[in-house]
Amino acid sequence: MHWVIPLTILIFQQALLVQSEKVIRLTPQVEAHLTFLRGLDKRDDIEIDFWRSPSYLFQAVDIEVSEKDLPTLSSILKDHGIDFEVQINDVQKLIEEELETVGARSGGWHSRYHNLEEIHSKLIEFSGRMAFVLSLGKSHEGRQMRAIKIKGRYRYNKPVFFIQCGIHAREWVSPATCMYMIDQLTQKYGRDQSVTALLDKMDFVILPVLNVDGYAYTWINPRDRGYRLWRKNRRYHRSYRCHGVDLNRNWGYGWGGTGASHRPCDTTFRGSTPFSEIETINVRNYLKGLEGKLKGFIDFHAYSQMWFIPWGYTSRRTTDHWEQMRVAKAASDALRRVHGTRFKYGSSASLLYPASGGSEDWTYGELGVTYSFSVELRDTGHHGFLLPADQIIPTGEETFEGLKALVREMRV
Ligand code: ARG
Ligand code: ZN
Repeated sequence: MHWVIPLTILIFQQALLVQSEKVIRLTPQVEAHLTFLRGLDKRDDIEIDFWRSPSYLFQAVDIEVSEKDLPTLSSILKDHGIDFEVQINDVQKLIEEELETVGARSGGWHSRYHNLEEIHSKLIEFSGRMAFVLSLGKSHEGRQMRAIKIKGRYRYNKPVFFIQCGIHAREWVSPATCMYMIDQLTQKYGRDQSVTALLDKMDFVILPVLNVDGYAYTWINPRDRGYRLWRKNRRYHRSYRCHGVDLNRNWGYGWGGTGASHRPCDTTFRGSTPFSEIETINVRNYLKGLEGKLKGFIDFHAYSQMWFIPWGYTSRRTTDHWEQMRVAKAASDALRRVHGTRFKYGSSASLLYPASGGSEDWTYGELGVTYSFSVELRDTGHHGFLLPADQIIPTGEETFEGLKALVREMRV
């Protein structure tokens, strides 16, 4: 007996594995549309994934759906009088194009995306006289959560700015942007006046991949049971036979409110309790350990091009609303001047959707860090989570300018 597997079976298996997926965009016009859309991920006749959840009237909703389920979805949408357009025709093709750029040999480090090991070894390369690598602890699956601390001139009680990326695994441009900024900060201190000023004002601690397990999982080929579009961490819920807690619904301020799910298999599952997850616990402990020196905080996400101030869990304004708006405007103005990229600024509850248990609500609400933000990087949905690698550098450049303007405006 030899290993002769008929070619047709191989091709058939491939076809089964690689379901063609699309992303459609629609815009709710009346309240009934919203109610209906919110129930869409709870049906069992179709399987969908919100790339952008339903929030308010006239706010675009992006839905990933398989070719197989599209006819059903399109007819139920029609029944409800909802028009849609196809935003991404072939998700798989974009993933494959991305894979090709990953393997490319030409171009600099920031011209393509990198897996966790590459990111962590690059951090070591960036370390030196003014920068050192530390670990905030281990993840659920035992990976180190590596960060880098970058310092300028020493000062007693110097304020610290903490930046985290990659809390959501599939938002690849977020870790890439953190790495770009780390590169700038470590290589340009003492050479570039704006970078020097930045680091003499505050020390920076940057965690490029918070959700290390989830990120590693998005790098595993589907043939080996990985998934590029995974969002949550990788905790296993045995009795539900599914994985993951949404780490940006797990922080302990306003936890358990709207915009977070209590159902373990949902993409926005909040966890069993506030800070039920080791990844959020590790960051919480590190930030608490800074003992009041923490003066700035940003959590980078993708996509939508928005600079969020607190609150995320409620549409009520904070007591620091105008100060937060002032610096967010400075950041988004500076950002736009680089490549013309337009960012909206305001609270996420008012611009996108209310979502409780977010990181910036906790740093602001619990630690009193006035300058707490979360940011949605490029794009506005054309590529969504699958932003082509040739946009990493432009995204890094504009975001870094935004950050510099923000820090310049901060009163600390
Ligand atoms: N897209 C981000 C998320 O869904 C936005 C978070 C904004 N912050 C918040 N606390 N809602 O997690
Ligand atoms: Zn996100």
